[in-house]
Amino acid sequence: MHITSAEIRSKYLEFFKSKNHAVIPSASLVPENDPSVLFNTAGMQPLIPYLLGERHPSGVRLADVQKCVRTGDIDDVGDDTHLTFFEMLGNWSLGDYFKADSIAWSWEFLTDKKWLALDPRMISVTVFEGDENAPRDEESATIWKSLGMPTDRIAYLPVEDNWWAAGPTGPCGPDTEIFYYMGEGLPPAGSNKGTDSKMWMEIWNNVFMQYNRVDEKTLVNLPAQCVDTGMGLERCTVTLNHMKSVYETDSFAPVLARIREIVGESNYNEKSARIIADHTRAATHMIADGVVPKNVDQGYILRRLIRRAIREFYKMGYEQAILSEISRMYIAQFEGIYESVKMNKEKILEELKREEEKFGKTLKDGINQLRKIVQKKKFNDECYLEDKFPKSKEQIDLIRLNEFSGYDAFNLFETYWFPIEMVEEELSHNFANYGLQKPMTVGKEDFYEAFQKHQELSRTASEGKFKWGLADSWVETTALHTACHLMLAGLRKVLGDHVHQAGSNITSERLRFDFTHGEKVNPEQLKAVEDYVNEAISARSTMVMTEMDKAEAQRTGVSGSFWEKYPDIVKIYTMTGANGTVYTRELCGGPHVETSEGMGVFKIQKEEASSAGVRRIKAVLVK
Ligand code: SER
Repeated sequence: MHITSAEIRSKYLEFFKSKNHAVIPSASLVPENDPSVLFNTAGMQPLIPYLLGERHPSGVRLADVQKCVRTGDIDDVGDDTHLTFFEMLGNWSLGDYFKADSIAWSWEFLTDKKWLALDPRMISVTVFEGDENAPRDEESATIWKSLGMPTDRIAYLPVEDNWWAAGPTGPCGPDTEIFYYMGEGLPPAGSNKGTDSKMWMEIWNNVFMQYNRVDEKTLVNLPAQCVDTGMGLERCTVTLNHMKSVYETDSFAPVLARIREIVGESNYNEKSARIIADHTRAATHMIADGVVPKNVDQGYILRRLIRRAIREFYKMGYEQAILSEISRMYIAQFEGIYESVKMNKEKILEELKREEEKFGKTLKDGINQLRKIVQKKKFNDECYLEDKFPKSKEQIDLIRLNEFSGYDAFNLFETYWFPIEMVEEELSHNFANYGLQKPMTVGKEDFYEAFQKHQELSRTASEGKFKWGLADSWVETTALHTACHLMLAGLRKVLGDHVHQAGSNITSERLRFDFTHGEKVNPEQLKAVEDYVNEAISARSTMVMTEMDKAEAQRTGVSGSFWEKYPDIVKIYTMTGANGTVYTRELCGGPHVETSEGMGVFKIQKEEASSAGVRRIKAVLVK
């Protein structure tokens, strides 16, 4: 059997239409109203408000294909499975059907002759084994059995496998996952995901969204029981066709063939071609959704993808702007499916061309810089050799004659996006262009050492970025973080001790703070909270950090949430006014301002419901 991704996509939607689902269009890759993530990373992300209880205009049964981008594993792209852009097929019940229909329909779609017609003997499933939050999911197991799933093909697995949540807070619940056997022939009796993990590939995940995680300790029921299913289209296509890699599927195979044609058989490199194919596909959709190459946020990710793709062309010895030609193939593939692609055809090609030109110029500057460094190195080597004193072999090794420094190669990479392979290429094949008599080697070990250090640093930085939402300005975010503490103290004073932090997100412009409280905070109360914070600011308060035994801190009534996340010795931040008043004393990892001077005036802009029992405040510091 061979089935294309295009067929799976359209069959999927057709099937759920036949079950009275409204087919809704994919949301943009760029999330609306959620600055904490750059791109939608799962089908459920744009539907979170509806899972939390808001009414969806298209009804309570929805089906869609959602565009997603994940860049966490960007360095793995080029292997058989990792992609930056992918499509997630999903069907949704917003307080309508639950486990029985969801599971029965998955089974019907996968195995019925009219739909995917998979051999039921090749399928196994997992269900949640239960923990202190939610019971063992016997209900799902019983439904599977009633459909004919043998008991030994059902594995009960723990929270790490069978619990799904988009983030640390928000809608979540147990899931049942469906797997396809990857071995030769039929799976042996007793084989399932629990006994034989590697042989089974996940093709579908049915999440029973029943809960809302308010904070690490608190799980509340959602207003209604919902279903969120997700079937990764590319992975599903690979699995169902028993292919080895996503690049064999109909979305990629013709693109790879075209790249092979463009660069020529002898220059072709499979990994480079895969990176180009993946990155161009992602870039095409990002531009279609309004992202343009920039040095920050979504635009930076886009720029990185485009430049990485161009570099791969260069590595294969092809130095013309060409991504737009590859993109054309994707436009043809997707314009019938996504309105965004159809509407922005010209813009996609223009943006790609513009960035190609810009990058071409950057690379030229890089070549000039390379030339300068090589000349200097050549001069130094000559001086050294001409020096009359005799030289030992050790001395000669030390100066590394005729070796281009790995650190210089790294600087070229960092400043001009110039890959080390290109430095090597230039100095081994085109050395005569640099006035060299023979090829010059490159200090690769030093390059990789510098590169790794850089990656560690940028990983730390991006973790920081995640933690602080989209923070790009340290000073502003730090002040807003301090304001969060003062506001929490104010809220507890005005509303009572039941108020705890349930989540927060800070950008350089504003803070967003979720806290436990059952009803709307009225304007007088909000004003009182504002006054409290502003009093603390104008009291010329100073923030002092002390370390304390965690048990003692809890005993002495320090406020804080997520205690279990902290080590045994904890940091307590206390802000005290010049008048001696303690305005806040809270457990935290920092950072905070040292004094309240210059923080500005605290202003609450919005107070609204976030989820059941949780309110959300957005506030700013006006300078
Ligand atoms: N949210 C689940 C997932 O992404 C199911 O759609 O796997």
